[in-house]
Amino acid sequence: MQTVKINTGKGYNCIIGRGLLEKSGELIKEVCAARRIALVTDDTVNSLYADTVENSLKTAGFECVKFVFPNGEGSKNIGTYSDMLEFMAENRLTRKDCIVALGGGVTGDMAGFCAATYLRGIDCVQIPTTLLSLVDSSVGGKTAIDLKHGKNLAGAFYQPRLVIADIDTLSTLGRDVFADGMAETIKYGVLFDREFFNSLKDKNIRENLEETVKKCIEFKRDTVIKDETDLGIRGLLNFGHTVGHAIEKCSDYTVSHGRAVAVGMVIISRGAYRTGLAKENISAELSELLESFGLPVSTDFTAEELYEAAVNDKKTDGNMITLILPETVGKCRLYKTDFSALREIIEKGLAR
Ligand code: GLY
Repeated sequence: MQTVKINTGKGYNCIIGRGLLEKSGELIKEVCAARRIALVTDDTVNSLYADTVENSLKTAGFECVKFVFPNGEGSKNIGTYSDMLEFMAENRLTRKDCIVALGGGVTGDMAGFCAATYLRGIDCVQIPTTLLSLVDSSVGGKTAIDLKHGKNLAGAFYQPRLVIADIDTLSTLGRDVFADGMAETIKYGVLFDREFFNSLKDKNIRENLEETVKKCIEFKRDTVIKDETDLGIRGLLNFGHTVGHAIEKCSDYTVSHGRAVAVGMVIISRGAYRTGLAKENISAELSELLESFGLPVSTDFTAEELYEAAVNDKKTDGNMITLILPETVGKCRLYKTDFSALREIIEKGLAR
């Protein structure tokens, strides 16, 4: 068992290890004085892990109620969020009580937002069960739901009290869901560390996940503690996300986040090189690594479709947008530019 401390606000620990679901009750007891816990999970994770967590919570002396919703991005909306809030009220959770999010990014984002807003904020513990949520979304306090106009348009920065990252939960992930998390993992390599990027070429990566997850959480910690509310340097974590979010939106969210980000990283890397904004073209090496995990590196959407979706994203500022451009594998920079430059980068990045 290893611990990474995240020094934002009150600070909290990410505990990384195996067999942690069975111990989740006692781990939560150490940081939280709740009497009652609302366990929030989707129907897939419910059948896999909810009993283990519920038993552990009860053994540790917590009363436990459970809210289950249908899995998938389609549930991350105001209807499910509203049902969740009503469930908390119906079960009389008090300000001293706690919400435990058990699942992937959708569960963590939505349960986190519910915790941030119910009674103006109650404790939240994140127990991520996908690689993507272990390495990214469970850490750093971004919580949100989607609106009809786009992804994550209503939300709050709200740090959890604890993150329990049980590597054993990754053993049940199918190839596609695992690959989704690898897109965000590879992202950290491009952003911060060539050696880490190279380590991901190891064929046995699935057997050595504990160190990989810890390293990603440390990369995220080092970024988030400098810019908790995403006004500057945290923007780096959005490498590949401008085009990635556009692909998700154009596909009506049928293309998963990780797959969309994979394509987005390649397009922006190639486009930056071809427009003279990057000296190196890392897109071939990046594509090769992404493809080795079964991730896509191209899309059928047109430059115009992607551009239109991208300029309607929440991350724009008037007619300006901040892009993340790779200088080389291991070093990226923030680049604020106007929409016409974005259009050119997408057009040139899309052409094979
Ligand atoms: N997932 C990007 C961030 O947390 O800032």
